Amino acid sequence: QCPALRRLSCAGTVAAGLRREEQPSGSVETGCQDKTPTKTFYEEQDERREQAQRTVLVHCPSKISEKEFLKHLSQHGPVHSHFFYESFVDDQLSTLLKELQLTEENTRLRYLICSLIEDIATAYFPGCTIRPFGSSVNTFGKLGCDLDMFIDLHETRKLRTHKRIGNFLMEFQVKNVPSERIATQKILTVIGESLDHFGPGCVGIQKILNARCPLVRFSHQASGFQCDLTTNNRVALKSSELLYIYGSMDSRVRALVFSIRCWARAHSLTSNIPGSWITNFSLTMMVIFFLQRRSPPILPTLDTLKALADTEDKCIIEGNNCTFTRDLNKIKPSENTETLELLLKEFFEYFGNFAFNKNSINIRQVNVLGREQNKPDSSPLHIENPFETSLNISKNVNQSQLQRFVELARESAWVLHQEDAYLPSSSSKPPWGLAALLLPSVMQSTKKQKKRCGSERIKSLLESMKSGSPESSANTSRN
Ligand code: GTP
Ligand code: MG
Repeated sequence: QCPALRRLSCAGTVAAGLRREEQPSGSVETGCQDKTPTKTFYEEQDERREQAQRTVLVHCPSKISEKEFLKHLSQHGPVHSHFFYESFVDDQLSTLLKELQLTEENTRLRYLICSLIEDIATAYFPGCTIRPFGSSVNTFGKLGCDLDMFIDLHETRKLRTHKRIGNFLMEFQVKNVPSERIATQKILTVIGESLDHFGPGCVGIQKILNARCPLVRFSHQASGFQCDLTTNNRVALKSSELLYIYGSMDSRVRALVFSIRCWARAHSLTSNIPGSWITNFSLTMMVIFFLQRRSPPILPTLDTLKALADTEDKCIIEGNNCTFTRDLNKIKPSENTETLELLLKEFFEYFGNFAFNKNSINIRQVNVLGREQNKPDSSPLHIENPFETSLNISKNVNQSQLQRFVELARESAWVLHQEDAYLPSSSSKPPWGLAALLLPSVMQSTKKQKKRCGSERIKSLLESMKSGSPESSANTSRN
């Protein structure tokens, strides 16, 4: 028995039967013709109502062969016309992406702010560039995300060597300083001071110079953005480019990343406050890793992208090989046809059962014989930095935060599996699909669990505060 037929009684998704002779001659019914009506309003109503009487809606499994499915249905009567719809959960994921992604004007505003800061910075560092990186540019940015930017002095240095013939040559000199780190701190100090005293709309300037990756943090009043300014973060820019490429390869990638990020935020797995929780960057790596391990894979590994690179793609930054192809045409589209609904469910199952205690997450390497890579150290969550491979980008995550992630992933997988038994058929039904997963009340129905989460959160906050000064607790470790 075809599972789809067993579900005939449930209101559901997919195929509709319709007699061909009802269609206007020569036209193919697609449901979205742009044509002037030739019937009266009531004729149209009657015809549609009668058509509806002979139409069935069937929910079928995601991996079903369309041909086989129709053959099976034809045993029960002629099917003259059919439509396959996207699953409802797929729609939810796509809607979330459409609603939350950065708009054109928001992106322009981000680049405008970089250019305004650049005007100030060039007074000290002629020829420098302020470049946005992170979620503002990597295609995973959600409205309201922070604006990460860095002062690129690399171009300035190039300018100095190449532009000696001009009439005037403005340049800066980093005087003898004991280390690159101290030079960075000095550069950020002057820019921070300038922004504080003269930067239009720049308020609440904090110089967080003792962090692993020193930065200046401020709010830009007119746009409402929180801005983080660092120096020489070329590896992070390369990571942003890599994510941009992954996000462009397959339309499912961004939809899934957005949904997972929203899910994590809704359950306080991520936070604006720095601490021992998972970051959006780590979550994105987890989604990419998961999509690389589907069969057939939806995304290639970083090593595959490196093998496709040509000489112009070659890129070594501070001794790290950051080479990968930047030509999307060289990357074969995936043959995987899994729906977003299935991927969401499988993501939760995969990480709900992942052996975090012994395995690491690594988007670079080919999965040898299906085995995962062993963790090189004892941190609860190990996600290898794609370009600085000895580093763990989720070193900040403690065991209890990881445990919360795993528990929520399991519960979410369970909620979605429960829903397999029915479909959203009436408006009185509680939220379902992704919407159900974003509701704390659905996920954490027992008070006990809620309490525990709250206290864990406070415990983690205290732990992160204990681990250092406000500077070092800022989420600035670029591991
Ligand atoms: P949002 O949460 O939307 O701001 O995502 P984001 O990707 O912008 O993250 P965040 O602002 O925390 O960091 C900005 C960028 O810095 C990321 O996209 C990464 O490229 C890089 N980054 C962040 N955290 C780490 C880390 O722990 N290690 C390394 N190597 N890079 C990091
Ligand atoms: Mg950011």
